[in-house]
Amino acid sequence: MIRRPVVLAMAGVAIAAALAVAALLISKRAIAPVSPPPPSSFDSQTKLAGARVVALGDCIVCHTAKGGKPFAGGLPLATPFGTIYATNITPDADTGIGNWSLEAFTRAIRNGVSRDGHLLYPAFPYIHFTHMSDSDIAAAYAYLMTREPVKATAPANALIFPLNFRPLLAFWNALFLRPGEQQTEASKDAEWNRGRLLVNGLGHCASCHSPLNVIGGEQPGQAFDGGVVDGWDAPALNTLNAAPKPWTKQQLVTYLRTGRASEHGAAAGPMLPVTRDLATVPAEDVEAIAAYLLSLQKPVASSNAPRAVRASAAPLTAAQQRGATLFAASCAQCHGNASPMQSPGQRPTLAFSTAVNAGTPRNAIQMVLGGIAWHGEDTINYMPAFGDVYSNEQIADLLSYVRATYSQHSAWTDVEATVAKVRKENDAR
Ligand code: HEC
Ligand code: HEC
Ligand code: HEC
Repeated sequence: MIRRPVVLAMAGVAIAAALAVAALLISKRAIAPVSPPPPSSFDSQTKLAGARVVALGDCIVCHTAKGGKPFAGGLPLATPFGTIYATNITPDADTGIGNWSLEAFTRAIRNGVSRDGHLLYPAFPYIHFTHMSDSDIAAAYAYLMTREPVKATAPANALIFPLNFRPLLAFWNALFLRPGEQQTEASKDAEWNRGRLLVNGLGHCASCHSPLNVIGGEQPGQAFDGGVVDGWDAPALNTLNAAPKPWTKQQLVTYLRTGRASEHGAAAGPMLPVTRDLATVPAEDVEAIAAYLLSLQKPVASSNAPRAVRASAAPLTAAQQRGATLFAASCAQCHGNASPMQSPGQRPTLAFSTAVNAGTPRNAIQMVLGGIAWHGEDTINYMPAFGDVYSNEQIADLLSYVRATYSQHSAWTDVEATVAKVRKENDAR
């Protein structure tokens, strides 16, 4: 007699095998290689349009390794399933996309299929890029095919079984990929439609700003409810009106183009490169993004609407008092109420910061651990890193003080344990 667990195990193996066979059957054909099109075959108008498309899509952010050549790939992307490396998309024929036709490139963008037919991992946000227009895809192709070719092969991915078996992605795609150009919504104006295309398509904002389910898919009903990326919280983008100073279109445009706005915290972590790219595109694109985002806002629950000024000045706890002392020594020269740098148009009070008012201390911890790197020309936007200066307990004390002083929301819990956790995650990245 065969026992039940064995039957179940056999059934499991049979199902896995059937899925694998099915997946192989629906795998994609290769598209024939072409000889690299000469740069002179692309006109300057199209290349210029392509530069804008590539900036809006943040292609360079993922496809460039630290200190590496632009678009040559090799950047590791950490996922819950292991590490995926972005590949070389320079026009090198051997190691890049030099021998890709426009047809092959279009299929990669719209369907997540590589030229030779293997399925691509959704760490490449093709579920969003699929909404791009044909002309935008052709422009991006022209731009990339006229960059400097670089010989470079990305390291092999390190993914857990069975996700290292690419054909299984066909099932993922069946669930999450809705391929095709986005259709215009006739009842809305041109700016809104452009904004929707940029936010949902090229800008792939939801890929960071939405929660992911256990298999790394975005839940349709939870778009823009907020997500976690590279150890940072990407805040919800549909409650922008619940900020201490509700976001206006002008503030959003300024934030997205400069990384700063007078009534909000600054862009940091994974958002910083997004704003650097948006700084290079025409203002009208960013205005459209802002207009569309503001149309997504949920009604503000009155309990959730914080005021910028603290109403009750409850006495500080012992930990918060220790934090106050550290704050006076290390932070007040920039963040204190009397700081000369806090004059209008320069630095907002911490009371306006989403990080300080958030449900978790994660982003505030990241700010204190890492600071904001010195950019030379941009002295206003510099913050030293305190990760090596203060212990987990000291950072917890500091942030408990900051929370009690600058936010209307209740105290964070387990701050010290979270500091330890964030440090550990950062070290592993
Ligand atoms: C969030 C990170 C990310 C962004 C942004 C991104 N890519 Fe990628 N891309 C990847 C990763 C990772 C891969 C490799 C996926 C794999 O190997 O399965 C990839 C693969 C590709 C491929 C397939 C290359 C091959 O050899 O199979 C193309 C083409 C591509 N990306 C083009 C683009 C373009 C064009 C843009 C901008 C519009 C862009 N990518 C933006 C992460 C990104
Ligand atoms: C040399 C100036 C400087 C010092 C010193 C400094 N900061 Fe900052 N801090 C900045 C800048 C610039 C930003 C980003 C722009 C902004 O929001 O004001 C920032 C942002 C922050 C933020 C996130 C606010 C946001 O942008 O959402 C927190 C939290 C923070 N700092 C805490 C601290 C703490 C705690 C200390 C002391 C341990 C400290 N800072 C010391 C300059 C400084
Ligand atoms: C690679 C991931 C990533 C992508 C892509 C991304 N964001 Fe973000 N975004 C973040 C993170 C993380 C933060 C929080 C960082 C901080 O506050 O400094 C953030 C912060 C923001 C904020 C500030 C919210 C607040 O309450 O302070 C806005 C607005 C925003 N993003 C809009 C966008 C838009 C619009 C797009 C698409 C064009 C986009 N983001 C794409 C990761 C991302």
